Amino acid sequence: MKLIIGNDHAGIELKKEIVAHLHEQGYIVQDVGVDTGERSDYPIVAKAVAQAISDKEYDLGILICGTGIGMAVAADKVAGVRASSITSVPFAELFRQHNNGNVVCLSGRFVDLEVNKEIVKTFLTTEFE
Ligand code: RB5
Repeated sequence: MKLIIGNDHAGIELKKEIVAHLHEQGYIVQDVGVDTGERSDYPIVAKAVAQAISDKEYDLGILICGTGIGMAVAADKVAGVRASSITSVPFAELFRQHNNGNVVCLSGRFVDLEVNKEIVKTFLTTEFE
């Protein structure tokens, strides 16, 4: 499975944790996010990930900002992308099962790390019904 991840300045720490966690599980993930703490424009990163998903260069995408909301709003503007802010494991499961979601948008500021790890695991392992 080919994965792509992106983040703004509010998602740097969570991005690092998620990428490390994915590597531990054997996933390869392309990182197109920012790594400096300077303010960055989340729609630019959202578009990079969304366009790569739309172009079928990657199977699933992960976006991280402060809330996950801005990334989802921006990514959903790209054809073929089904992105949503996801803050719980049941929503991650339903997002895959019922919506065939292909870009999960995480909150780097308001959701616990362990919950975010479980959201990602669920997003990557749940099939569309
Ligand atoms: C940045 O402060 C914040 O607005 C951004 O990360 C995101 O949460 C927007 O939706």
